[in-house]
Amino acid sequence: MAREIHFLAFSGSTRADSFNRMLLSHAIRGASLRGASVIEIHLNYFPMPLYDGDLEAAEGIPESAIRLKALFAGADGFLIASPEYNGFFSGILKNTLDWLSRPVAGDSAPTPFRGKVAAIMAASPGGLGGARGLIQLRALLSNLQVTVIPEQLTIPNAHKVFSPEGKLMDKQFEAKARLLGAALTAFAEKLRG
Ligand SMILES: Cc1cc2nc3c(=O)[nH]c(=O)nc-3n(C[C@H](O)[C@H](O)[C@H](O)COP(=O)(O)O)c2cc1C
Repeated sequence: MAREIHFLAFSGSTRADSFNRMLLSHAIRGASLRGASVIEIHLNYFPMPLYDGDLEAAEGIPESAIRLKALFAGADGFLIASPEYNGFFSGILKNTLDWLSRPVAGDSAPTPFRGKVAAIMAASPGGLGGARGLIQLRALLSNLQVTVIPEQLTIPNAHKVFSPEGKLMDKQFEAKARLLGAALTAFAEKLRG
């Protein structure tokens, strides 16, 4: 029997009550129900300095980036939710992906991205739901040779549609979030053949 598809899920927000983290949990559920194994990680647990070439030359890759890179390398793909800040996805997400794109000495698999798949989503109290940031995020992931599925989900007015515990009061959004997770699983399975 084929091994199950394995995804890493993470949010570009480190905020405790992050709407994006809430949204992510519903997509994770959808992927799990479709048969994928999903590990959610919090970027708070992988702190990294802002990327600086001199720092890298002097000290190498941060230990948390090496740990995270190994988790990325072992995944078939990624479920990613990111807040939108001034029309872009979050800085912490960009910084994390930049560090992970750097080669680690002696690493036989220099890129943890190539050949992987991803589904992206965003939630925002604003009216566009973070849609503008996803355009940039899709482009960045493509540059890293991650195939981002065409389906994506944005949730506007997030402060009105999530309960404080993260439940989606609008069941249509809940269904769409689950469908997104399921779609990524189906795509990864198809790709594996
Ligand atoms: C610096 C900054 C810029 C923001 N820019 C946008 C924006 O361009 N579009 C938007 O919809 N929301 C914007 N917001 C609001 C965020 O979407 C909101 O804080 C959201 O709750 C953050 O995501 P989280 O709940 O997952 O932490 C901005 C917030 C901050 C702090």
